Amino acid sequence: MNASLDPAPLIELATAYWGSATLIAAVRLGIFGHLAKGPASAAEVADRADADPIACDTLLAGLVALGLVTKDSAGRFANAALSDAFLVEGRPGYLGPALSYNRDIYPLWADLDRVVRTGEVIDAPDRYLGDDAARTRNFVQGMHHRALGVGRAVAQVIDLTGRTHLADVGGGPGTYSALLCQQTPGLTAQVLDLPGVVAIARQIVADMGAADRVTCTAFDYYRDALPGRYDAALISGVLHREQPEQVQAMLRAVADALEPDAVFYLSDVMLDDDRTGPLFATMFALNMRVLAHDGRCHTVAEQTAWLKDVGFDVTAVTRLPAPIHYTVIRAERRA
Ligand SMILES: C[S@@+](CC[C@H](N)C(=O)[O-])C[C@H]1O[C@@H](n2cnc3c(N)ncnc32)[C@H](O)[C@@H]1O
Repeated sequence: MNASLDPAPLIELATAYWGSATLIAAVRLGIFGHLAKGPASAAEVADRADADPIACDTLLAGLVALGLVTKDSAGRFANAALSDAFLVEGRPGYLGPALSYNRDIYPLWADLDRVVRTGEVIDAPDRYLGDDAARTRNFVQGMHHRALGVGRAVAQVIDLTGRTHLADVGGGPGTYSALLCQQTPGLTAQVLDLPGVVAIARQIVADMGAADRVTCTAFDYYRDALPGRYDAALISGVLHREQPEQVQAMLRAVADALEPDAVFYLSDVMLDDDRTGPLFATMFALNMRVLAHDGRCHTVAEQTAWLKDVGFDVTAVTRLPAPIHYTVIRAERRA
């Protein structure tokens, strides 16, 4: 054994999910909402959350150690600034559903070794894309809150000035379409997604006050041609579900539906060209491996080449830092 080597990082890695589970349990118990009403003792928090007092005290201690909650000398707990901004239900930055969604995925990650050995996913992805109503709702609401909370940065680098018809392929909750219509006079958008997803998207779009500009249409990119002609297209957070051959087919399908000089944005978690970084992208690629049959991440260089093959010129690449971790590729359809 090499005595100069410290095994601590391995222990920390193996138990990293403890912190994750603590955060998600607190979100699900509404702890941050209860603390937003005012500082409280552990017993008072337990009472407000209808929780066991001793277990709740243990949870609060963990939240203090994680920096999510503070404790004063009188033993009263309060939200830290980060929790107050993002973990209180009803506030504009609320990330609860986006964070809690990870709980659905824990059991899949526990079987990562089996996924790697067999190449097969354990869970049927269709369960959260329509087949299981509760999981589909969690997934779509999670995407919506993520897009609203941290995804605004993506909308801000997408410039659709002067465009009128956007195809949002795999548009999920429709949040980006609604945000883009809000920031672009004259723009209308069509969210194209699986039937179980668009049923939820319609309500989200209506709640955002965008139903007059954003339509939601059932569509399966494995089977259907895009149902219109467009001068702009967006594929956000979808290509990480697919292998290169399918991605190329999807890019070709979009090219076929776009007018000359149309603009096309690809937005996703993307790998460095040597595929070993950034860290988030390598982990996210594994996440997609356990979630989707063909999940993986692609590099900017790969996608630039595929876009070129089907008639686009890449005009800009914007890397967005944590917490969004997305890279946005802007391309134009050759005339
Ligand atoms: C991670 S979500 C991204 C949603 C949205 N574009 C966003 O960025 O918030 C991936 C989306 O791809 C959709 N999708 C998966 N398979 C599909 C298919 N065969 N046809 C159409 N959409 C599909 C999913 O339903 C889901 O809404």
